Amino acid sequence: MITRLNHVAVVVPDLAVAAKTYESVLGATVSAPQSLKEHGVTVVFVELDNTRIELLEPLGDGSPLSNFLARNADGGMHHLCLEVNDILAARDELVANGARILGDGNPKPGAHGKPVLFLHPKDFHGCLLELEEA
Ligand code: CO
Repeated sequence: MITRLNHVAVVVPDLAVAAKTYESVLGATVSAPQSLKEHGVTVVFVELDNTRIELLEPLGDGSPLSNFLARNADGGMHHLCLEVNDILAARDELVANGARILGDGNPKPGAHGKPVLFLHPKDFHGCLLELEEA
């Protein structure tokens, strides 16, 4: 079902400061910020040869990241994004096997315009998983 690691996501309290750290301290290429209202987040991507790091900060009231930052004021690892070829087939197979999909269970467009879903971390050993159709 899963094929490639698309990105590792890290929540940060200040996206501009974090992007500058990756650029100036680690010498990385960082994308322009992108606000995703439907997900309640603003993101940048740190581009690497073999994958990406997604840096996230909350956008608006009721962002799903607000609780995370309340518990982890310095930020921290948030989710892994894994690619699948067919997100609806993957979802149906996961649900049939008892896994829980967050939200209404339907894919939404993610940061790359491709459909994404999030899986309940309790079903995956404490790790929030994002699936992205690639
Ligand atoms: Co992500």
